[in-house]
Amino acid sequence: MRARRRGRERLVNDTPAAPLLDVRGLKVHFPVRRGPFGRVTGHVRAVDGVSLALRPGETLGLVGESGCGKTTLGRALARAVEPSAGRVLYDPGDGGDPWDVGALSRRGLRAYQRQVRVVFQDPFSSLNPRMTLLRIVGDPLKAHGLASGSELEDRVADMLTRVGLSSRYMRRYPHAFSGGERQRISIARALILGPRLVIADEPVSALDVSVRAQILNLLLELREQLNLTYLFISHDLSVVESVCDRVAVMYLGKVVETGPTSPLYAQPRHPYTEALLSAVPRPDPRLRGAGRRIRLADDLPDPARPPAGCSFHTRCQAAVDGVCDVPGRPPELAPAGEGRLTACHRATDLTLTGVPALGPAVEGA
Ligand SMILES: Nc1ncnc2c1ncn2[C@@H]1O[C@H](COP(=O)(O)OP(=O)(O)OP(=O)(O)O)[C@@H](O)[C@H]1O
Ligand code: SF4
Ligand SMILES: [Mg+2]
Repeated sequence: MRARRRGRERLVNDTPAAPLLDVRGLKVHFPVRRGPFGRVTGHVRAVDGVSLALRPGETLGLVGESGCGKTTLGRALARAVEPSAGRVLYDPGDGGDPWDVGALSRRGLRAYQRQVRVVFQDPFSSLNPRMTLLRIVGDPLKAHGLASGSELEDRVADMLTRVGLSSRYMRRYPHAFSGGERQRISIARALILGPRLVIADEPVSALDVSVRAQILNLLLELREQLNLTYLFISHDLSVVESVCDRVAVMYLGKVVETGPTSPLYAQPRHPYTEALLSAVPRPDPRLRGAGRRIRLADDLPDPARPPAGCSFHTRCQAAVDGVCDVPGRPPELAPAGEGRLTACHRATDLTLTGVPALGPAVEGA
């Protein structure tokens, strides 16, 4: 299953544009409550100091194991969950100053939430079964006071056509549609307000393999047509490879490596990225490369009690006692060449193994 990824080389080679979203030290800590009185006994550090930039027009992949904080980060960026600390600066593209998203007025926040929309993983549970397509897709327009009556119907019809559905289906309910069609409906709902940034949280994970490439290609076509920027959340590194310009790797609430997709896949600069990549399948044996599968020891540590120092040291095969496990000395993200950043104390003395390039993508295959 491959999708087209246009524009990657442009983004890799050009001077980076000013970020659309500039995330600085973002934290989302959930209180852990215990006992009959619900006393707070600790905090799950779901997002624990994330800094990253999303450039206009790019698709940034966010990868990492289940529970590392991908969805929480996406929700915090969409302002569906309140961050505990940090800043998010959004460039509205009008030549003015960036918006400090945490300091927006109620009206400003509504404007932000028109421009930043989310597509969820599960098109079965995320669509209200008692609402017609007209309402599912059109309600955001009504809620934001942007259209009503026949104008609203026209805009819904237009959006349905854009995502590959007939406007004749407008009065039908979600149960009449397949998984792929439902995800098209979710995408139409996300795009109806004319956003600039779409946070797609595992948008194809719940779909049959046979329709995944269609939905990925649709997302990429819409990106070109509507000048969209994507944060593409996925635990599937093959899907990310086929659609993303850049990748951010998350571990226990932190971004541990970022960089353009091809160089990052070819030669990771963080041992955790290397371990994730070692599991990426290559159907052609000639492309499997020299890398051996790295099995990560144990489960992800408890995000309420992350290991001291580098939080990956308990599972890292390259960890050095007295360097990687020193309390209060976590590795910070630092430049690692080719527009890349990595957070590893041993970044300069490790040679890590990636996966060989897949070659040109096959449209719709
Ligand atoms: N509302 C919440 N209250 C308490 N803890 C939460 C809440 N939401 C998420 N968490 C915890 O935060 C951590 C990160 O969860 P999150 O869903 O963001 O991970 P994820 O990377 O999206 O995982 P997956 O790949 O399974 O979707 C997990 O330990 C999760 O249990
Ligand atoms: S800092 Fe140490 S433990 Fe962490 S990734 Fe680098 S080598 Fe491994
Ligand atoms: Mg998730």
